[in-house]
Amino acid sequence: MTPSNATNLHPSILQEFRVLPLGILCKSIAISGLVLLLFYAFLSNNPENQSSDSFNLPFQLKWPTASSSSNVNNTMDSPTNISHIGFIVIGSLNSWKNRKSYIESWWRPNVTRGYVFLDKEPTEEFLPWPSTSPPFQVNEDITKLRVYPKIANPLQVRMFHSLLDMYRVGDKGLRWLIMCDDDSIFFVDNLVEVLRKYDHNKYQYIGGISECVKSNADFSFDMGFGGAGYAVSYPFAQAISTKLEDCIERYPHLWVSDHMAQSCFADLGIALTIEKGIHQIDLRGDISGFLSYLPQSPLLTLHHLDIVDPIFPSMDRYEALRHLMKAAKVDQSRVAQQTICYQRESNWSFSVSWGYSTHIYENIIPRSILRKPIETFRPFSKNTRPPLYMFNTRWQINNPCEAPHVFFFESIEHNPENDQVLTTYVRAAQRNLPPCSASGNHSADSISKIRVLSQATTRKTAGVIECCDVDYKAETNITDIKIRSCLKDEVIA
Ligand SMILES: *[C@@H]1O[C@H](CO)[C@@H](O)[C@H](O)[C@H]1NC(C)=O
Ligand SMILES: *[C@@H]1O[C@H](CO)[C@@H](O)[C@H](O)[C@H]1NC(C)=O
Ligand SMILES: *[C@@H]1O[C@H](CO)[C@@H](O)[C@H](O)[C@H]1NC(C)=O
Ligand SMILES: *[C@@H]1O[C@H](CO)[C@@H](O)[C@H](O)[C@H]1NC(C)=O
Ligand SMILES: *[C@@H]1O[C@H](CO)[C@@H](O)[C@H](O)[C@H]1NC(C)=O
Ligand SMILES: *[C@@H]1O[C@H](CO)[C@@H](O)[C@H](O)[C@H]1NC(C)=O
Repeated sequence: MTPSNATNLHPSILQEFRVLPLGILCKSIAISGLVLLLFYAFLSNNPENQSSDSFNLPFQLKWPTASSSSNVNNTMDSPTNISHIGFIVIGSLNSWKNRKSYIESWWRPNVTRGYVFLDKEPTEEFLPWPSTSPPFQVNEDITKLRVYPKIANPLQVRMFHSLLDMYRVGDKGLRWLIMCDDDSIFFVDNLVEVLRKYDHNKYQYIGGISECVKSNADFSFDMGFGGAGYAVSYPFAQAISTKLEDCIERYPHLWVSDHMAQSCFADLGIALTIEKGIHQIDLRGDISGFLSYLPQSPLLTLHHLDIVDPIFPSMDRYEALRHLMKAAKVDQSRVAQQTICYQRESNWSFSVSWGYSTHIYENIIPRSILRKPIETFRPFSKNTRPPLYMFNTRWQINNPCEAPHVFFFESIEHNPENDQVLTTYVRAAQRNLPPCSASGNHSADSISKIRVLSQATTRKTAGVIECCDVDYKAETNITDIKIRSCLKDEVIA
């Protein structure tokens, strides 16, 4: 395929680059000021005083011979697998009834290890405890802590304390502990694969920040949000276990457990490593414009599905989640991973979010734009001022050259004979717009279904895009897409 060129674009797509609103202008001025300031700081900092002193020291400073400082896995241990991961699901008896379905959508009885930590012993109505749920533990009573009277938010301290409570359970053979909420959804196969990249013998703190600038600013840009879930390596958990109660004494005023954790870990010298597949979902409303354009990174978690619209139209929240999990059961490596292809004969662009949705644009739109989420959603908090999000977005625009035809995941079939996986996507609603005239009036209105073929035996390589071919026949209303590896240099399209 040949690279598309920007002149193919309808003008209003480019508009966002052209218009320089006052806000941006002010920002540019502020930034120039900042650059000057930094330059000055650099000048005044750089000369003699720093480095030259160290040469005149009466003694020689020696560093211990450094073991490799990189966090990546270079151990000879056996590969990390699911039995090396211990989940700390923080729950409460009050929320359990609503949250149980979320956990059971990803929990694998007798395979995944860990516990739901509850605030109190379950009463009779919760017993016998189902074997389809994680077994439970009851949190230690934090009212016994000396610092208790100074604690601003006891619920959150109980949550943080679960890390110590889990450590004290003393389960053997764990390399990682995962902190999460009872409404966190995990994609466990992807989690195993991603954790395998890291050296579990080192101190590690791996998580995700919020999608909203404000949420991060309110707490910390360096904080793993607990609903999204974060991982600590076992040796680090061991170190934390001896310090956790000291930390609570140091930070009893902090309002949120994840902030307490982050502060505590930072004091131990350990900073957050961000994994892009960990999603806090601090969003509201229709998040389909987000899930259709996730970054290229194995999907690890989703959160807050209780506060957003059901992720598929005309299903309730639990049904919608179970529906997504049908695709996840067959091939987690591709779930909600974006693949883009072009149909030059009709000037169409296709964007597939595997197992979730497919969008058709009646125009050739470059990848650089198609990777941006469409703002179908709202930020978590009302009345926040832009910039709202930690990523670039596109507006939802009723322009026939920019508005996609939207299809949602319908079914999945795995053919064991040729090891191919067929996912189908059906149109959610008519677009109700005329065809895009700038690109030749090729209407996609008649397409009612899209079938996407992928290979089951080859897992998608984490972070690497795939390419696809479109097979469109005007006489049928079904369009076929075949996902394949990209050819050399094809990715520029
Ligand atoms: C580390 O990576 C190597 C090579 O990818 C792999 O063979 C090994 O199993 C991994 N180790 C762990 C502990 O996951
Ligand atoms: C995970 O690896 C360990 C060896 O470290 C092995 O004993 C265990 O059986 C493996 N578990 C699974 C589920 O593969
Ligand atoms: C898990 O294992 C136990 C004991 O081996 C068994 O009784 C139980 O039925 C299993 N649970 C599930 C859901 O497979
Ligand atoms: C595709 O769009 C371009 C304008 O962007 C136009 O020149 C060309 O003729 C169109 N091709 C088809 C097949 O309609
Ligand atoms: C597309 O259709 C409109 C309205 O029918 C017409 O004005 C326009 O010239 C057409 N464009 C092309 C490229 O055929
Ligand atoms: C394709 O869709 C068009 C318009 O929606 C419809 O008129 C036509 O009958 C459909 N064709 C087939 C083969 O289903």
